[in-house]
Amino acid sequence: MKTKIINTPDMQKAADRRPSSTVFSTMSVKSFDELSKLIKGKKYYIRTYGCQANIRDEETMRGMLENVGYIPSNEPEEADLIIINTCAVRENAEDKVYGEIGNLKYLTKKNKELVLGFCGCMVEQPEILKRLMTTFPEVNLYFGTHELGNLYSLIYAVLTNKERIVSIESKPGEVVENLPACRLNRFKAFVNIIYGCNKFCTYCIVPYTRGKERSRKFEDVLDECKSLVKAGYKEITLLGQNVNAYGKDLDEQKDFADLLEAVAKTGIERLRFTTSHPWDFSSKMIDIIAKYPNIMKFIHLPVQSGNDKILKLMGRRYSRQQYLDLVKEMRNKIPGLSLSTDIIVGFPNETEDEFQDTVTLVDEVKYEAAFTFIYSPRKGTPAAKIEDNVPYATKSKRFIELVKHLEKHIEEKSNKMVGNVYKVLVDGTSKTDEGMLSGYTEENKLVHFKGDESLIGTIVDVKITESHTYSLIGEIVNG
Ligand code: 5AD
Ligand code: SF4
Repeated sequence: MKTKIINTPDMQKAADRRPSSTVFSTMSVKSFDELSKLIKGKKYYIRTYGCQANIRDEETMRGMLENVGYIPSNEPEEADLIIINTCAVRENAEDKVYGEIGNLKYLTKKNKELVLGFCGCMVEQPEILKRLMTTFPEVNLYFGTHELGNLYSLIYAVLTNKERIVSIESKPGEVVENLPACRLNRFKAFVNIIYGCNKFCTYCIVPYTRGKERSRKFEDVLDECKSLVKAGYKEITLLGQNVNAYGKDLDEQKDFADLLEAVAKTGIERLRFTTSHPWDFSSKMIDIIAKYPNIMKFIHLPVQSGNDKILKLMGRRYSRQQYLDLVKEMRNKIPGLSLSTDIIVGFPNETEDEFQDTVTLVDEVKYEAAFTFIYSPRKGTPAAKIEDNVPYATKSKRFIELVKHLEKHIEEKSNKMVGNVYKVLVDGTSKTDEGMLSGYTEENKLVHFKGDESLIGTIVDVKITESHTYSLIGEIVNG
């Protein structure tokens, strides 16, 4: 198979934060019409790994593919187009993808016309792209995170030229608006407010794979939220790698607090946002969260470490004390606040004492939820150049110790919920027990309870009867 390289990834270009004038074309009308004729009756399958940004990208791809005539399928075996939407944040996310391609390779032999595409954060890294291209010659389309708008032209080119296309531009262009979306949930929606990240935490690959911070215009976000409310959505989650940086790159004098307030005023029943960097979290934002009952009292506030030396090595821009002060202000101003966090253990050179600082911080904050990770070096990031002298066994031991502390606090909080009534947005039937419904409380706790399927998509009052570490059992009160 011939390979046509349109663009290949470049980490240095991806790290450039100077203003750029690169503008990407969205679809050309010609490729839309011709593709539409070519794929009549054909099916597509998308598999997404990783964070909400990837899930939201999947929704855009689904919207585009269905607009041009592709039919969705849950079976890769019957699909004519397969897209694997990858994640690169840790090594184990990448390993899952390598396993998946191994399984899919044989499909290209069965269906010679199959378009097998790879996108997402993995392909944005030069070394990984090279490895993928040599190990899996069957893959005939690679496209980057900034190129969703070109999807039609890329698929059309693969189908008509019978060649492999590689199109990964490392510099993002303007924010592309008005791409269609086929949302995966009927009453909970993700709304992008800012793409990319300028923080460059030293361990993190995201600022390279997702590019520089680009905020969507205030009115564009607001219009999308208003149309979601009109369409009957119950919950909106505003999305960004760092939502608190919203607006800094715009000419309009609007920040995240202004946006949050304006979206709360649309009347959406539940408003959430993720992820927040502690460095950008202003008192104005805290006041807005406290003021509007429809802004959920749940904040995901990654701390990563409780030790000042490690925080500095991580490039996190705050000290342990500054983080704790922020938590104090939040808990004081927002009654009933739930806090969750991300923590990395075993960062290069982390000593036992430094790790214990993280444990004591966890004991002080008493998070309501947490994600814990063992440090995973990402090639091209500054941290990957630091010699790592913490043995894996030590990292694992620390991981287990930390999870024990986190779970103790989570369990204590969950136990206190027993006997009280909480508002739950019913998601669907429970994955483990068909007779049960499940959904989330305002503070983002998963609850299982008996009820009729007609309640799916509504908000019900549930009295908690039993608590487990990661979920609660309850019963509906008042019908
Ligand atoms: N190793 C381990 N965890 C990481 N994260 C990001 N990069 C790495 C890495 N190289 C974690 C951080 C971040 C979350 C999304 O993933 O905790 O907040
Ligand atoms: Fe990565 Fe830090 Fe940006 Fe989060 S804020 S995406 S951890 S660089």
